[in-house]
Amino acid sequence: MGGFDPRQLRREFPIFERNPGLVFLDSGASAQKPRQVIDGLAEFYRNDYANVHRGVYQLSARSTDRFEEARETVRAFLNAADEREIVFVRGATEAINLVAQSWGPAHLKPGDEVVISDLEHHSNLVPWQMLCERVGARLVVAPTDATGEFDLAQFESLLSPCTRLVAVTHISNVTGALLPVARIVELAHARGALVLIDGFLREVVETVDDFATRVHLLRRLAGRLGNLEE
Ligand SMILES: Cc1ncc(COP(=O)(O)O)c(C=O)c1O
Repeated sequence: MGGFDPRQLRREFPIFERNPGLVFLDSGASAQKPRQVIDGLAEFYRNDYANVHRGVYQLSARSTDRFEEARETVRAFLNAADEREIVFVRGATEAINLVAQSWGPAHLKPGDEVVISDLEHHSNLVPWQMLCERVGARLVVAPTDATGEFDLAQFESLLSPCTRLVAVTHISNVTGALLPVARIVELAHARGALVLIDGFLREVVETVDDFATRVHLLRRLAGRLGNLEE
């Protein structure tokens, strides 16, 4: 971590100035906001706020520009190829449900399989349970090994010609286990399955280089949602 100065970073967060003894350990649930985010939001509400993509008057046009600029900022952060790959939702639960409820019934049929791991947050379990029940597909759960790590060999043995989707977390919110997503994607693609990565925690800690291999399904979803966004 050469050159990384946590005290410098801490100064970017006004909440620590107001609460000097504060040690905040609940970022996984709700991260504190740095000055840039707080000021950016306040500035937007003060100067530009109006409905996005809905009006032809000046404020609305400015709001739309700011909104689309944010999409480009996120695209660059994730190293995505095209900003149409970026779909804004309120959180991981909404994103995964959106995929499960839009892509799912249109592409899964009885006998198909969705593979998850036993390290998943409920957000990446319940939508697939409901989907599989609805369409008559089978939910396959890849177990962890004796040490609580993701078991790649077991996972691979559970993939089959019926696997249509692999949906796994990048980092477990329960154990902190880091899943080898690049390899998981390779194995799934080799069998023609799509992959959904719950990147909820990963994006917090690291810039993603290999977006394309990690969120193929979201790319497709972005295409599908193009109509809904306008
Ligand atoms: C790995 C993981 N996935 C999904 C979620 C749910 O995220 P959200 O609250 O944005 O729906 C969480 C929340 O803690 C999580 O840790």
